[in-house]
Amino acid sequence: MKLTTLLPLSLVGLSAAQAPAPYTDAKSGVTFNTYIHPSNGYFFGIALPQNTTGNTDFIATIGGKGTGWSGVSLGGGMLNKLLIVAWPNGQNVVSSFRKTANFGSPPVATGAFNQTAIANGTYTNATHWTYTFLCSKCILADKTTFGAADTTANFGWAFNAQAPAQKNNAGSTVAKHSDQGQVAFDLTKARSANFTTWKGYAAPPKVARGFEA
Ligand code: HEM
Repeated sequence: MKLTTLLPLSLVGLSAAQAPAPYTDAKSGVTFNTYIHPSNGYFFGIALPQNTTGNTDFIATIGGKGTGWSGVSLGGGMLNKLLIVAWPNGQNVVSSFRKTANFGSPPVATGAFNQTAIANGTYTNATHWTYTFLCSKCILADKTTFGAADTTANFGWAFNAQAPAQKNNAGSTVAKHSDQGQVAFDLTKARSANFTTWKGYAAPPKVARGFEA
């Protein structure tokens, strides 16, 4: 991800740069409403279908600089919300769902929800690693995530420049975030008529490696 392609130069460095804004990934062509942290390299973006009735799926992109982990809370806060944690592992990315009732390294969460990597949006370049995936059955009615019909949502973000203890293991413990917060997203800006096309980019890895992309 190149920051210069994300924002008009006049906005870079201003606090306005912290509000989520539409960003099109040059490699995948997917447009996300994207939060980019102004300094630590963290980003999270989401794409949704135009018709949200009964929808349970979204496409997301998450990444950062260096070899540390980036996480997102689909429900805003850390506790009792569905979390996703990802980090780079060489040229690959490792990711898992997490959930916890206590502050501490969250254990892996299991359920009907699933992540499928979008290969053309998953890469490491000179400045960033980027993981793009279809999150299917991820919009839940149990308040652990945002709701299908919501027009706004608070997402939590968390970042640590330190790599997890076991980079190969999607269930690895992680050290506490060095930076974290919540950001309000206008979900109407995440909706696109191209969602179905983009969803078709998602394919399981040729070699089964858990959630490794
Ligand atoms: C050892 C691991 C972790 C510890 C000890 C920990 C601890 C905490 C604590 C104590 C807070 C409250 C704010 C503060 O005092 O800093 C917090 C907030 C938060 N944590 Fe974690 N956390 C860990 C891992 C994670 C992971 C893996 C995620 C992944 C998404 C995450 C996401 C968040 C979010 C979104 C917030 C809320 C930020 C806000 O409301 O402003 N945490 N965490």
